[in-house]
Parts: sequence; C-alpha cells; structure tokens
Amino acid sequence: MDTVQLIGKTRDNIPLTAAEIDFLVALYTAGAVPDYQMAAWLMAVYCRGLTREETVALTLAMAHSGEVIQWPDAWRPITDKHSTGGVGDTTTLIVAPIVAAAGVRVGKMSGRGLGFTGGTLDKLESIPGFSVQLSAADFRRQIETLYLAVIGQSEELAPADGLMYALRDVTGTVESLPLIASSVMSKKLASGADVIVLDVKCGAAAFMKTREEAEVLARLMVAIGEQAGRRTLAIVSDMNAPLGSAVGNSLEIDEATEVLQGQGNRRLIDVSLTLAGAMIYGAGKADDWESGIARAREVWESGEAFSVWKAWLAAQGGSVDWVGHRPLTQAAHVHTVTAQEEGVVNGIDAMVLAQVSRELGAGRMVKEDTISPMVGLRLHCELNDTIRRGDALVTVYSDDMTDEEALTERLRRAFILGTEAADIPLIYERIDGKENFTQ
Ligand code: URA
Ligand code: CA
Repeated sequence: MDTVQLIGKTRDNIPLTAAEIDFLVALYTAGAVPDYQMAAWLMAVYCRGLTREETVALTLAMAHSGEVIQWPDAWRPITDKHSTGGVGDTTTLIVAPIVAAAGVRVGKMSGRGLGFTGGTLDKLESIPGFSVQLSAADFRRQIETLYLAVIGQSEELAPADGLMYALRDVTGTVESLPLIASSVMSKKLASGADVIVLDVKCGAAAFMKTREEAEVLARLMVAIGEQAGRRTLAIVSDMNAPLGSAVGNSLEIDEATEVLQGQGNRRLIDVSLTLAGAMIYGAGKADDWESGIARAREVWESGEAFSVWKAWLAAQGGSVDWVGHRPLTQAAHVHTVTAQEEGVVNGIDAMVLAQVSRELGAGRMVKEDTISPMVGLRLHCELNDTIRRGDALVTVYSDDMTDEEALTERLRRAFILGTEAADIPLIYERIDGKENFTQ
C-alpha cells in the first residue's frame, strides 16, 4: 500500500477499504507517515466525505491505536456519557451519581479540552483536594466499590486521535462530520464502555449551529457505536440559551450540589434525568427510556444520588465539609446585575455569558492558559420567568475589580425580554440505537 495512492483515492471519492484505513492510521501513529501527507488526506476527507463504512473503520482504527480498556465481566455493563459541549452544561456531575445510585457503573475519562468554560475535570478540580489523576488500580477499585469514577484521559487512549486532532486544528479540517464523529467515538470505544450516551448540542453557542447538522452527527455517532457492538443512545438538545444557571467551575459544582439536593434549574434537571435515564435503560436496568427516566427520578428524589455525590468527592480526595452547608464558591468580588425593565424572559444569550465568563478567567482558549476556579456567572432567572424592574438577573464572581458599568450593560442585553411566555425547545430528539441501527 502506498500513502500517496490512498490520498488520491479519497481525493477522487473512491472509498478506502478497512485495511487501507488501518494501514494509514497505524503508520501515522507510528510516525511513519509525515504530517503533510496526513494533512492532505484529512483535507481530502473534509472535501469529499467518508462513507459510513469508512467512518466506522476510521473510528475503530483510531480506537485501537493505543490502550483499549477491558472491564471485568462482573462489573458490566459500564456506562459513559459525552456532550459535544455547551454553556452551563453541568450534566456529568449530576448524571454520574444518579446512574451509580441506580446500580449502574459509570467509568468516565474526560479530556480537558478548550473552550469558553472549563471542562468536567476543571470543575471537579475546583474542589480543594479533588484529584482527577487516579492510578489505574484506584480507578478500577473505585468503579468496583462506588460504581463511579471520573478521571483525566490518559495519553495512551486513542493516541491517533490526539495526533490527528492537533493536525486538524491547524489545517482547517476540524468541521467535518466523519472526522468529528470518529474522533469522539474512538475515545469512547477505547475507554471500554458498553453503553454510550451522547448529548449533541445545537445552537448559537454550540459546535453544531443547526438542528439538522446536529441530528446528522448524532445519528452517525450512534451508528458507529452500534456497529462497534456498543449500546448507543443520543439526544439532540438546545444550546442557544445556557443549559443551567451557573457558568464557571466552582459555581457549577455548587449548582450540581443543589440539583442533587433536589432543587434547581428546570432545563438542567430535565436534560440530566433524560441522559441518566438513557444510561439506566441502555444498561438494561429499565424496560424503556421512559422507565429509565422514572428510575433516575426516583434515586434523585430519594437523596440516594446526593449521598453518592458526597461519597464520590471524598473518594477522589475532595473536601466535603462545605457540601450542604455553604457554597464552595468564594470570590474576591461579587456584583449583581438587576433588571431595568419588566417582562418575560424569552431568551438568554449563551454566547454572551460564555464570552464574559472566559474573560473573567473561567475557561481557556489555548492549552497553556490557567483557569480561575472561583470566577463566573450565576443566573437568578430561567427562561419564561417573569421579571420585574430591580429583580436580580445575574451575579458576577471575579478575582479583580471589573468595569462594572460596561459588564452590566453587556449582561443585561443577554436577557431577551418579551411580553408572554415563548415556546422554547430543549430536547429536539431522542435517538435509540437499538431501534434505528441494529440489523
Ligand atoms: N471534540 C472531539 O473530541 N473531536 C472533534 O473532532 C471535535 C470535538
Ligand atoms: Ca469519499
């Protein structure tokens, strides 16, 4: 096989065989195919696309480019979830304890990622003492006994993806559905999960801007998972408005804690129970998705999930003395923005909140940026709430004095007020791989 020939085939829209794709990925991972050839192939994929068979083959080749985790049969099924990223998306922190409390194991490896807000690892690390770097033995022990652990993704997991993603980032080839789907799913397959639940976001503050694009990506990822023999389910959900009420690392820990105590943002609770329900159903502990959601609600309302939350934080070395007593967030400067007009909240611009929280220091745009754990935004109203003049809209938590007037104006404009409640979609679609893709 010859690399130039393979590049030419994809350029001319002639499908590659699985063996050809394996060859390309294995040689590239070994350093035997230079970056310029891989970049040319990625651009050919970007322009010409891959067939579903090619996309599955690429995903499997990437998944097998490094360590593939094998879980003991007695612990299975192991579940995992993935979100394509959004603002105020605290679902992992809520879903994992709920699923574990329902008797289903969750083993999650998170990447740190780049973006306007921190990733799950950054949020957990805002808890003093919490470690995301467990040894392999401790990770396993915790999944065995506590039914749940979340750790940083090892360099050994799907190394081909790490190399190819870095190359895509600098060659204009990130926004390709087969490349995104294979990138995400290769890591999920390598981490050994039997059940994979995906939350594909769409909207102004998401990677996928339209519902149509998001649906295509979700179906593609579900098909890949099912063809690789994993139970795979997905939702397509809205990311025009933030999901929850907190944007910022420790603030999202505080919000997760509140939700696990039984109260909080309606959208965040709805998506969290839907995802947890999918994991419980996918694991075979409920007859259908709806019953899975009912079971999730049961362990959430009973406080069992909250108990698991506290045990989880303690198990990974985190302090828990604050849980249920006071907020974790302690910022040097706190400033609340109030409404100047009355109305019904018809929209909240997630992109504005994301940009502000990044400027405050809650996210990183390049790998080397450091994150401020305690800064961010806390909303005081939800979509379709009625607001009066003087009501608190959002509180800003910052390390330094901010230009309060300018910030107040920007944040006020993020709230779109109308005269009556609007019909604002949250979950556009549920996709169950068993119904859609098994042959
Ligand atoms: N996230 C990933 O892990 N890979 C992509 O290609 C895009 C987003
Ligand atoms: Ca093609």
